[in-house]
Amino acid sequence: MPQKFYIETVGCQMNVLDSELAISELILHGYEQVRRRQDADIILFNTCSVREHAEEKIYSALGRLKHWKERRPNGILGVMGCMAQKDQKKIFRRAPHVDLVLGPGQLDRLPELLAGISAHHTAQIAVSLNRFGHEASAMEIRDSFRRYDPRRLPEARPSRFQAMVRIMFGCNKFCTYCIVPNVRGPEQSRPPQEIIQEIRKLADQGCVDVTLLGQTVNSYRYMDDSGETSLAQLLEQIDAIEGIRRIRFVSNYPTGMTNRLLEAVRDLPHVMPYLHVPAQHGADTMLKRMKRMYSVSEYRDLVDRIYDIIPGVAITSDFIVGFSGETEEEFQKTVELVRYCRFKNSFIFKYSVREGTRASQLYEDDIPEQVKKQRNNALLAVQNEISAAQNQTFVGKTVEILVEGRSKNDYRSDKPGDCSGFIPVSSLTNTFQLTGRTPDDRIVVFDGPESLIGTFQQLDIEAAAPFTLFGKLV
Ligand code: 5AD
Ligand code: SF4
Repeated sequence: MPQKFYIETVGCQMNVLDSELAISELILHGYEQVRRRQDADIILFNTCSVREHAEEKIYSALGRLKHWKERRPNGILGVMGCMAQKDQKKIFRRAPHVDLVLGPGQLDRLPELLAGISAHHTAQIAVSLNRFGHEASAMEIRDSFRRYDPRRLPEARPSRFQAMVRIMFGCNKFCTYCIVPNVRGPEQSRPPQEIIQEIRKLADQGCVDVTLLGQTVNSYRYMDDSGETSLAQLLEQIDAIEGIRRIRFVSNYPTGMTNRLLEAVRDLPHVMPYLHVPAQHGADTMLKRMKRMYSVSEYRDLVDRIYDIIPGVAITSDFIVGFSGETEEEFQKTVELVRYCRFKNSFIFKYSVREGTRASQLYEDDIPEQVKKQRNNALLAVQNEISAAQNQTFVGKTVEILVEGRSKNDYRSDKPGDCSGFIPVSSLTNTFQLTGRTPDDRIVVFDGPESLIGTFQQLDIEAAAPFTLFGKLV
């Protein structure tokens, strides 16, 4: 009987991709994936450590599984990903019933370690070398984080026609608040040939839409005997792959966004006019404390340049509110920047101090939670106004979308949880509320048959809300 595993993923797209690759490896080794925890012999958490809240949720989930372990002496409970790399043995101390701690650079060892746990009934740990430990050379540390993306199985992909492709690992920026460089290791770009081969295979399997992933994806650079390949050049090669119709890349760091890259986005037919370029803050004083390597005016110039070069582009950003020492005036500068840049949307985070970062050593986490919350809501309100106004300009226009699936809500509102007056369309006809995305990454919902999922369709936009357009099949 194959052993059954259940995997739960939190965090960013990188983690979603890691889980997909882990699932593929386990299936290839004869394990079977199940959709409910209670059916599993092996429960795995793929974790995030960017904010404390995400970690605490995992620790409480682990605590609740103590009884599960007591009832199943042969059951295996594993923690993978960023929190495994960050907390390492501390996980065994806080949750002694955990059997496996596996860093993001070691996910390919998952089947081997699971077999070891079953055979010897001993807990296993595999993590990368500490970036700040001086006992190892830079090369050894880099190699300890190195993991080429292994064999991918189409059935492990969340979507048949969409895929994420990692083009680089790690980060060298060391923004003072951020734990990512510690847990994901040094920046390393994958060889272009390997990326192209992976995407060709995905295209052969019916994939039409790819998102290239990297922590600072625009720093992609690969050197070999034939010279240097930049992200712009890589995009040219991917654009030429038969069957690939949509290409996006995330996340960009605001420096190094060359005109050549922006022109590639404008000129290559399959590269979508969508750029995620996190600004993080709107005050120079704060950017400096965060060790972001640009000024607010440089960021504004970049946004101007993006709008000048790429017609119809949508820009999105991330912001942190309540970082150490943030005054009301400094916060208002973030509001100003959001108003100036007219982002399609912004992801806003309350600062969460992370042990092991420079900020945790240098600055006090001195902004009260209440103030963080209030700034978060205030910034969100400004952004929502801009998002709503932008979406409104689409009403009366026709857009092309890739139909992604059934709308999660299947009701006519973009407010999650608001089900007033909800009549499932499917109960009246054999159509459903479907959802898809425009080239500039706006979500559109519309009524149509399920057979359209995975196809490109033209939609007339009839109404708009801040995060959703409502359309009708042309
Ligand atoms: N606290 C709050 N938000 C953070 N981010 C990264 N580190 C922290 C932290 N310590 C945010 C940044 C980043 C996004 C992925 O998470 O905005 O762009
Ligand atoms: Fe973290 Fe900064 Fe690297 Fe982004 S660029 S992953 S915020 S250190």
